[in-house]
Amino acid sequence: MNRKALLLIPAAALMASALPAASPAPDGAQLFQQRCASCHSVTPGGRAVLAPNLAGLLNRKAAATTFNYSPALKASNIVWTRANLDRFLSGPGRMVPGTRMVIAVSDPAQRSVIVNFIARPPSR
Ligand code: HEC
Repeated sequence: MNRKALLLIPAAALMASALPAASPAPDGAQLFQQRCASCHSVTPGGRAVLAPNLAGLLNRKAAATTFNYSPALKASNIVWTRANLDRFLSGPGRMVPGTRMVIAVSDPAQRSVIVNFIARPPSR
C-alpha cells in the first residue's frame, strides 16, 4: 500500500461517521408532510378544501372551523387534547363512527411526533 492510500482510509472513515443514522427518530413535520398535508393545512388561514385547517387545533372543539364536516364529527363533542388526538389518529372511525377522516397512524411513536407537530404554537 502506498502512502496516498494510507491517508485516504481515515478520510473515508470520517465521511462515513458524518452520515445520518440508519433509522432516525421519526420527525413530526416530515410525517405530517407525507401523511396529512395532501389534505390538511396547518397554516393559519390556509386552504381547507379537502379537509379542515388544523392551525390552532390543540384544545379546540372538534368540527369548529368553517369546513363542511360530517354529522358524526359535529356531534362528537370531542375537545382536541393531546390524548384525544392520539386516540383519534390511532383509528378515527373507531373513536368517531361515521367520520370522513379515514387516515389512521398505527405506530404510537409516529402518532406522538405528529401530535407534537400539530400542537406546536401557530407562530412557528
Ligand atoms: C384524504 C384526506 C385526509 C388525510 C390524508 C388526512 N385527513 Fe384528517 N381529516 C380529513 C377530513 C375529510 C376530515 C373531516 C372529517 C369529518 O368531517 O368527519 C379530517 C379531520 C381531521 C381532524 C379533526 C379536525 C377538526 O377540526 O375537528 C384531525 C385532528 C385530523 N383530521 C388529523 C389528521 C392527521 C394528523 C392526518 C395525518 C396523519 C390526517 N388528518 C390526514 C381528511 C384527511
